[in-house]
Amino acid sequence: MLSFDYGNISAIHRARVYRLGLTLSTTLRLENHPLPEMMPEPSWPTDKTIVLVGLMGAGKTSVGRKMAEIMGFSFVDADEEIINAVACSVEDIFEKYGEDAFRDVEERVISRLLQEGPMILATGGGAFMNPRIRALIAAGAISVWLRAELDVLVRRTKRRGGRPLLKNKNHKDTLEALINERGPVYAVADIVIDSTDEGADATAKLVMSALEDKIQP
Ligand code: S3P
Repeated sequence: MLSFDYGNISAIHRARVYRLGLTLSTTLRLENHPLPEMMPEPSWPTDKTIVLVGLMGAGKTSVGRKMAEIMGFSFVDADEEIINAVACSVEDIFEKYGEDAFRDVEERVISRLLQEGPMILATGGGAFMNPRIRALIAAGAISVWLRAELDVLVRRTKRRGGRPLLKNKNHKDTLEALINERGPVYAVADIVIDSTDEGADATAKLVMSALEDKIQP
């Protein structure tokens, strides 16, 4: 039986600590070096959680972190939360308990995180395929599909292991099949942004500008 630790320190608690740290460091900096009056405060254009979806290698974690850094807000990686909750790597969860168990924990963790927001939430590539997760996101969050070309995904996923769906598989064939299967579902996301080799910084700025267009009439 897969144990799941609900008593884990919640993401929102960490987010609060993170934001407190930001506030303190901003205050200290302001005291020592007053900023010009026109300097914009980090802004959060919505009270909704921004959920990054897309295939393995799409850049959800690096783009999400960058957005959080620029916007001065909290970032949470759903897979990291799963690893903390189960105290086991994603690979081990698949191997010891099977993919269904992983999907079950994934749904519980993401449901909890969506109640704790707002935050920037990077989800594992399969999360948005779950209709219940999709419904929760549609009801209370804003989804962003980071869409990437096959060769970009292949190159990026070869840099990091730990992905059971790609273990001992031909990355190109597997990712191509996943693009065909999942692409039409990712396409229902509120915002679609191409994740290219321009870098996480550039992609984060594209996402933020699309968010502002969407949120501010
Ligand atoms: C998966 C993607 C992984 C992880 C798990 C399953 C998927 O996350 O959740 O290995 O089904 O595509 P990343 O997309 O962050 O690699």
